[in-house]
Amino acid sequence: MNCLVTGGAGFIGSHLTEALIADGHSVSVIDDLSTGSLQNLTSVKNHPAFSLIQGNMLNAPELPALVQQSDVIFHLAAAVGVELVVHDPIRTITTNVFGTERVLSLASQYGKRILIASTSEVYGKSDKIPFHETDDLLIGSPKHSRWSYACSKLLDEFMLMAHVRSHALPGTVVRFFNTVGPRQTGRYGMVIPRFVSAALQGQPLRVYGSGGQTRCFCHVFDTVRALRVVAQTPSACGEILNIGNTESITIYNLAKRIISRLGSSSEIEMIPYEQAYEVGFEDMIHRSPCCEKILNLCGWQAEIPLNTILDDVAAYLRQKL
Ligand SMILES: NC(=O)c1ccc[n+]([C@@H]2O[C@H](COP(=O)([O-])OP(=O)(O)OC[C@H]3O[C@@H](n4cnc5c(N)ncnc54)[C@H](O)[C@@H]3O)[C@@H](O)[C@H]2O)c1
Repeated sequence: MNCLVTGGAGFIGSHLTEALIADGHSVSVIDDLSTGSLQNLTSVKNHPAFSLIQGNMLNAPELPALVQQSDVIFHLAAAVGVELVVHDPIRTITTNVFGTERVLSLASQYGKRILIASTSEVYGKSDKIPFHETDDLLIGSPKHSRWSYACSKLLDEFMLMAHVRSHALPGTVVRFFNTVGPRQTGRYGMVIPRFVSAALQGQPLRVYGSGGQTRCFCHVFDTVRALRVVAQTPSACGEILNIGNTESITIYNLAKRIISRLGSSSEIEMIPYEQAYEVGFEDMIHRSPCCEKILNLCGWQAEIPLNTILDDVAAYLRQKL
């Protein structure tokens, strides 16, 4: 199979690219290296089944041919990360809306199987536990730029569904819930690499807000396995699927767990949201996926526990530091 991975030099995209090549597929990657890096692709860069276009999906002239030649498209390229989104909302909206619009239109034109990456952020401020794909969504005000990420991804979802209805596009929306693992960078506010890196260096682990907010963390290997299974499941076309782990932990307890697991001397420092992000910053209190739909449709569920995730991230960051 010929696969196109947009954002393939990024954290999830590079693991997916490696896995697809290991499965015997050919993979083309398009990436502008804004948050991704060539280093992530070291293991595949000389493989005959791999090719890379270093370019912006918004205007790269190669994109139509790449889409035309592919059997399946994994659309992962996006502006990602709460810090990046809060500080550069225009880039977030432009990349996530117009980039996806371009990729989807081409996929529709050539009738290609496509998966687009969405996010648990679209559930917004809902306090439901867990989140189901059919839930109503509760997005905050446009005065708070953090919601621009959720809104841009939600518009992508609506766009995909419109192409499914109007052009019978074989497309699926996948909503990732906090995917983590080696290669994820803490630079844009991702909590586990940030905490593990601080713990390894004996620096304080900065917990934003009360620390009582809960999250579920999914190993990138589980996420990549889900993407490969969903792509091969025809009945997943036209569907929205949560992809995540159901093991939940508060951010404060996560910080404590990391300190004890790594035998670190670090302390926990509580930081108000206004100081970490922007005045009036609104967080999601709980974020827990219901994964019954993907289990029933594709037979997938997350398998890798949080402790293994922490060990893998620590091993990766130890090497980097
Ligand atoms: N990691 C998570 O927990 C998580 C959660 C929810 C959703 N997602 C989604 O999964 C996808 C992958 O996220 P990730 O965590 O690997 O982030 P990432 O930042 O590592 O990957 C995104 C990639 O897209 C590339 N990119 C950005 N703008 C581009 C453009 N205009 N043209 C070409 N390439 C561009 C970046 O260079 C990067 O390599 C994103 O769509 C993100 O919204 C991730």
